[in-house]
Amino acid sequence: MSPIYVSEVKYMIICKNRTDLQSVITKIKAQGKSLGFVPTMGALHQGHISLIHQSVQTCDITCASIFVNPTQFNNPHDLQTYPRTLDSDIAMLNEAGCDIVFVPEVIDMYPQGTQHIESYNFGSLETVMEGAFRPGHFNGVAIIVKRLFDLIPADTAFFGLKDYQQVAIIRALVEQEKIPVRIVACPTVREPDGLAMSSRNMRLNAEQRKQAVEISKTLFTVQAMVGKKSVDDVKKFVIDTLNNVPLLSVEYFEIVHQNTLQPIQNWNEPAVACVAVNVGDVRLIDNVLL
Ligand code: PAJ
Repeated sequence: MSPIYVSEVKYMIICKNRTDLQSVITKIKAQGKSLGFVPTMGALHQGHISLIHQSVQTCDITCASIFVNPTQFNNPHDLQTYPRTLDSDIAMLNEAGCDIVFVPEVIDMYPQGTQHIESYNFGSLETVMEGAFRPGHFNGVAIIVKRLFDLIPADTAFFGLKDYQQVAIIRALVEQEKIPVRIVACPTVREPDGLAMSSRNMRLNAEQRKQAVEISKTLFTVQAMVGKKSVDDVKKFVIDTLNNVPLLSVEYFEIVHQNTLQPIQNWNEPAVACVAVNVGDVRLIDNVLL
């Protein structure tokens, strides 16, 4: 089955379980078409849609998934309050030219439940930043992405650099598990004022939203400080600046090597500045390449 056309209008195929998905995938593969894949947790915004556009431009068929993956939430409140906007997600994917969307239930992805799950080891990539502050998070990400790759044998999969550490983990997973997929990392899409787009932004109230812009503003200032101030001075500057904004509280700010994700000591190495900030009970992350 390929995407359905009625009077030149293309309709996206919606697969609500793995059986439906598998029959669609088998037909696409039999036609020898290239398959692009964009995994998401829904509550879609233009950041997600930029990944769909990349896939539509470079692959014959684009498949997206929408699944709020319980095993990657270390905080039950975060899982409970994670925004769910399926109708508008489907409309946005269709509009962007996506061909297939997979919207499984928890039972489809975790037939044995979510308690006894496999463990991955990503070494020092997962002991820093998100890995340190969200125990089990990347194990949950790796489990679901591996299971999705097993169901969706994509030639190329698209991930956002907004989640910089996640991209490093996915690359390590693909290498460890020898998954035959090309990973493409796409740039962070921002609101006009600079705030990185995130599904969690819709949980900010007006005052929180106003103050949240200081996160990206401060990161952009860091780009101008490279080579002029010491790494430690820059760290102190960012943490102090953000903590001085009344509704913001920094969880971590790190300047790390772009590949190893280990803290750098001087500016001779390719670096990325990564931050996690709590804005009320909404946790936001952002980063800039230096
Ligand atoms: P989610 O947060 O929905 O993000 C899905 C994809 O969109 C990720 O690759 C993420 O990096 C990308 N993305 C999010 N905001 C972006 C922005 N502002 N600009 C560019 N890309 C952006 O990341 C996940 O879901 C999950 O961990 C997942 C990989 C789906 C596994 O459950």
